[in-house]
Amino acid sequence: MSDALRSAAIEILKVNDRGSYTVPTKGLYPFQWNWDSCLTALGQRHFDPARALTEIETLFAHQWPCGMVPHIIFHAQDDGYFPGPEVWGCNRPVPTSGITQPPVAGFALRRLLDAAPDLQDRARPLLARITAWHRWFHATRDPQGSGLVAIIHPWESGRDNSVDWDAPFDRVPSDGVAPYTRRDTQHADAAHRPTKDQYDRYIWLVERFRGLGWATERLHYTSPFQVVDPGFNSILIRSCADLADLAVVMGEDAQAAENRALAAKGLAALPALWSDAHGQYLCLDRVAGRLIDNPSSGGLLAAFAPIPPDRAARIAASIEAHGTRFRVASQAPGTPGFDAKRYWRGPVWLVVNYMIADGLERAGQAEAAAAIRASSLRLITESGFAEYYDPLTGEGLGGGQFTWTAAMVLEFLSMQRSPAPAR
Ligand code: GLC
Repeated sequence: MSDALRSAAIEILKVNDRGSYTVPTKGLYPFQWNWDSCLTALGQRHFDPARALTEIETLFAHQWPCGMVPHIIFHAQDDGYFPGPEVWGCNRPVPTSGITQPPVAGFALRRLLDAAPDLQDRARPLLARITAWHRWFHATRDPQGSGLVAIIHPWESGRDNSVDWDAPFDRVPSDGVAPYTRRDTQHADAAHRPTKDQYDRYIWLVERFRGLGWATERLHYTSPFQVVDPGFNSILIRSCADLADLAVVMGEDAQAAENRALAAKGLAALPALWSDAHGQYLCLDRVAGRLIDNPSSGGLLAAFAPIPPDRAARIAASIEAHGTRFRVASQAPGTPGFDAKRYWRGPVWLVVNYMIADGLERAGQAEAAAAIRASSLRLITESGFAEYYDPLTGEGLGGGQFTWTAAMVLEFLSMQRSPAPAR
């Protein structure tokens, strides 16, 4: 059985391979996405490590001079996606979006090179590039040096329409945006996607930033949406820590020290987001100056950073308490806003499962991690390689033949063969 799953997953990665980058899925997402690519490399490493490195190299070839790595690279012309290059108006040699995504590259590169040390020399230039991205985050998204960085657009979180963004989104106007036609709802059921009102606000923010010429150092303070997401920050912390370890192995001491310091800074600030009542971390609305009282998977994903073991144990218990047939729901079931089929307001996403399970395993929660991995593989056998899944029924939703879902399956299958080492 697992051999058949493995072959099916590899086939999807190959079908979606465009040579030097991989599209998330045909039709719905016809370009290169930032965190999709880094997580996709983890799947590719199981059958072609050199190709996996290319995936990350291609992404970083489009890094902006300021250090920002865009969330979409529009390599080829395709009218099937909105908002396309003309809406972003970023004026780059190859068009890109102007916002970023969860910085998982440092983690992915380390994991790739751990098993393929022969690629180290080729990968060396990436160390400086990823470090520059990490530095950019702290410089532009944490101007007061709190230790935690803010996202300025929900799309940056990767959890586009999470309930987390509802309250801060009230501050973002929805009027005055140029008329547009959505494309996602032509490929997937509108009832499983963000609403029109949310889309208007997404585009309002894009137009605001475009009006500021995408000067990334100016955007944070001028955005009515500034949210500190524990999942996003934990990915940054983990990537800084892993890149530091890799830099030590490769003899790049200055980069090791810089990344180590950034990781320590983030980790020291993370406790401010903890909620004892929810048994998980919460988002902080930086404009309003208060925590967002909502239990989403962003606060569970914090386990990806080296948080204290007792907090990891609480997170494992909170996931167990969801009581859903499939783990991990992106919004705690039964809470306001939960919608089992609507994108990031309830459905399970395998990439998030993967990172939560990895963190829990490292924190000594092996049983909880194994339960998440088993649940993920059950979803695949029952419903195929979908974009996301209903946590109650297991129904596959959104796009099909999905790249990062397939990549995560290869990771989960390889762990069944060789359990992850404890930290
Ligand atoms: C959606 C997801 C985002 C992902 C993208 C491409 O926008 O919310 O996390 O990167 O699709 O798969």
